[in-house]
Amino acid sequence: MAKEWAQVTGASSGLGSEFARVLAAKKCDLVLVARRVKPMERLAAELRERAQIEVVVLPLDISTSNAAATLEHELDSRGILPTILVNNAAFGFSGEFLGQEAASLEEMLRLDILNLVSLTHTFARKMATAGHGHILLVASLAAYQPVPLMAAYAAAKSFVLSFGEALHVELAPKINVTVVSPGLMETEFFGVANYKPKESLKASMLPASVVAARGVKAMFARKPSIVIGKINNVSAFSTRFFSRHMLALLGHRMTKD
Ligand SMILES: NC(=O)c1ccc[n+]([C@@H]2O[C@H](COP(=O)([O-])OP(=O)(O)OC[C@H]3O[C@@H](n4cnc5c(N)ncnc54)[C@H](OP(=O)(O)O)[C@@H]3O)[C@@H](O)[C@H]2O)c1
Repeated sequence: MAKEWAQVTGASSGLGSEFARVLAAKKCDLVLVARRVKPMERLAAELRERAQIEVVVLPLDISTSNAAATLEHELDSRGILPTILVNNAAFGFSGEFLGQEAASLEEMLRLDILNLVSLTHTFARKMATAGHGHILLVASLAAYQPVPLMAAYAAAKSFVLSFGEALHVELAPKINVTVVSPGLMETEFFGVANYKPKESLKASMLPASVVAARGVKAMFARKPSIVIGKINNVSAFSTRFFSRHMLALLGHRMTKD
């Protein structure tokens, strides 16, 4: 492929770092975005050395209201036009809805929904002007059903899935939009979300490196949406055979102690 700039959000850990590694191996220059600078600087040094690419590190809290405009300004001032955007940064909460702080829920929804839309909007317009581009949106297996005790997070991921599948049709053929839905991955996500996966769910876990490689492959193959992993695909497909209420009851079983 021709040399392109790829912007990866949430690149300081987990799946985002792995997306950066996969794209670096494809010789994309990279813009890494997250709040923590040190892990991104370490990753940038590794990738510059290994893949001989340019890597720009942009520390930014993407849950702030002007995050998309800030990123646009930062990249414009460097003359960088990303034609690949990986919208990966997100966090979740597990636990009782009534026990969660309103401010934290709002922060999560600004990051997981509002600013994901703003970033997509801002950079898709630039890609349209450039004549081409790819956008990869990270949803989740949780997008496929209501999940009590993770209600707002799962609903946010349902938004991402629906939003991305709609844009896949609307923005084609100039801009390809692909949604990737991972199942459980051992990343910092569990600690942030205060979530302990049940033993029975651990068989479905995949390394973030595998999820990233398959997600990027699906994006370049211009797929609308992909669930990663055999067990996870069966889970997502089987949601078609249950009522939404039944799925919520099953989801509750998976999340409660
Ligand atoms: N792990 C799982 O089991 C799982 C399953 C399904 C879907 N997912 C999805 O996979 C994606 C990646 O998650 P992960 O598992 O890799 O979790 P992770 O290791 O916690 O990574 C989350 C990334 O998002 C960044 N981030 C969080 N808040 C941010 C903010 N306000 N501004 C900028 N960046 C922010 C974090 O960086 P900083 O803290 O440095 O800002 C970090 O780089 C997310 O969309 C998640 O919902 C995860």
